[in-house]
Formats: sequence, C-alpha cells, structure tokens
Amino acid sequence: METIKLNNNLQCPVVGIGTFMLSPEEAENSVREALKMGYSLVDTANAYVNERACGRGMRDSGVKRENIFLSTKLWPSEYENENAVDETLERLGVDYVDLLYIHQPAGNWLAGYRQLEKAYKAGKAKSIGISNFEGKYLDELMTQWEIVPQFIQMEAHPYFTQKELRKTLNKYDIKLMSWYPLGHGDTSLMNEPVFAELGGKYGKTPAQVILRWHTQMGFAVIPGSKNVDHIKDNLDILDFKLTDDEMASIATLDKDERYYHRTDEQLAGFAAWRPDFERA
Ligand SMILES: NC(=O)c1ccc[n+]([C@@H]2O[C@H](COP(=O)([O-])OP(=O)(O)OC[C@H]3O[C@@H](n4cnc5c(N)ncnc54)[C@H](OP(=O)(O)O)[C@@H]3O)[C@@H](O)[C@H]2O)c1
Repeated sequence: METIKLNNNLQCPVVGIGTFMLSPEEAENSVREALKMGYSLVDTANAYVNERACGRGMRDSGVKRENIFLSTKLWPSEYENENAVDETLERLGVDYVDLLYIHQPAGNWLAGYRQLEKAYKAGKAKSIGISNFEGKYLDELMTQWEIVPQFIQMEAHPYFTQKELRKTLNKYDIKLMSWYPLGHGDTSLMNEPVFAELGGKYGKTPAQVILRWHTQMGFAVIPGSKNVDHIKDNLDILDFKLTDDEMASIATLDKDERYYHRTDEQLAGFAAWRPDFERA
C-alpha cells in the first residue's frame, strides 16, 4: 500500500474505507470486508453513529490493530465533554486512534482542539486533524494551535480541488483527506468523458480513475461504500499511473464548485445536536 508521510513522520495509507451514512450493520460489514481484502485505513466519526460497528468490523476482520490506521472525529457536542476522547475509544474498542479530528468549526471548537492536543500528548491519538475548517476558522486556529495538525478533511474531487486552501496546507505540511471523493456518487462527475477514456486505456472504471487522481494529487482518499464489489475496485487503483498530460486534462474539469454548501445556521445546528450513540 502506498502511504503519505505526515508532518510528524507517521505514514498514512493513501486509500481507505469511508463510513458516512452507513448504518451500523452496513459499516460493520464494509469495514470487515475492506480490511480482509487489504485496506488498512478506516474513517468514521462520532456523528456517523457507527463507531461500535466499525470496531466490531475491525476485530472480526482478523487484521491486527497495529496494522490498521483508524480515523474518527469528535462532534461539537463533545468538545466540552472532558471524557469525549475516552468515550470515543471505548465505543471503538481501542486504546488509541491513529487520527482524531474535530469534525466542524462549531460550538466551542477551540476546546475541542485542545482535547485533540491533549490526546496526542497522551498517546491516545497518534495524529490529529481538523475537518471543514477554512476561512476565518482556519485563520483563527492558526493563531491558537500548539500542535500543527497532520490532516485536514475537506470536500475535494475533480470539480473542486481546494486550490486556495492547499496554499496554506503546503505552508504547514498539512495533508488533505478528501471527502465526497466521488462526488458522493454523482453520476455527472463519473460520466465525464475523460474518465471513460482513461479507464479504457488502463482497464479501470471511471471511479477508479478518479480515485487514482486523488492519490496522485497527494490526497488520502476514503470512498464510502456498502457494495463489496465497489470496495474491491476502490482499492485496486495503485497499479497504474496517470501521466502529467492526463492529470492536466483532468485539471480542466475544476469548476471551483462544491456539492455541499454549509451555512452559519447549519453550524449553529451542529453545535446544538448530540448524536444518539449506539449503546452496545
Ligand atoms: N468530514 C466530513 O464532514 C465528511 C463529510 C462527508 C463524508 N466524509 C467521509 O468521506 C467519505 C467519503 O464520502 P462519501 O461516502 O459521502 O462520498 P463518496 O465516497 O464520494 O461517494 C459514495 C457514493 O459513491 C458510491 N460508490 C463508491 N464506490 C464506487 C464505485 N467504485 N463505483 C461506483 N460508485 C461507487 C457509493 O455507493 P455504493 O455504496 O453503492 O458503493 C456511494 O453512493 C465518507 O464515507 C466519510 O468517511 C466526511
């Protein structure tokens, strides 16, 4: 598996399994099957309400804990809960995570970031990250962080390549992990002729070409899927390489246009909502 070297020298696999909008049963199945077929990166979150299920999938896969790069995210309702990290670890059934994010710049997010730094120092999080931070939130965080995060998780795909944000990331050697890497399954993205053309050349599907593009952009990528055939395809992307010209022709698709537009009202709603965590 190709890896990305983080600013604390940790290595993160370039491809993982995402679990947003997967029910506990689906997440358990996807995580177990993905790990059994060679994945080593799993992404979940407090808010997905499937952390216990991901933990079960990890254990049932037979893959050793130390061979899994496990990523999860604290939700804003947990930022001021001083037991949030331990409760997250308990749900996952692990004594550390490889990557711990704060999910949204909502509520008392600085308290959330302090929890990440504390968990990092205590060895409960081997690396830390921010998710959906940009603009004024990122500017503010940069004046406050004691530990520079290793990752940022943001929407990114060929229609929206985070060109502006990447200037700041490069300055601090913060790596990008793409969410909605396949446009959340949007067929207009996958049906762009360039992906069929390159897929024909390399014997790959359009989705595989898009995912390979992410890794060649230097992004880690965590496509979500509950379909074992898709999960298999999404891992099978590292045996070909897009040329510079091919990367350039994909770059022409960039419309600087995201699928998901977050409003201030939504951020306030995020801060007020507490996930209904799985009980057992
Ligand atoms: N930090 C954040 O705020 C945030 C927000 C959103 C997502 N995320 C993370 O990012 C991950 C990825 O985002 P996402 O799952 O929303 O979107 P995505 O990965 O862009 O797309 C998922 C969709 O694509 C389909 N798909 C997957 N592989 C495919 C393939 N090989 N061929 C055709 N269709 C395929 C899936 O359907 P099937 O199930 O049928 O395969 C699903 O409908 C999430 O799972 C989550 O871990 C984070």
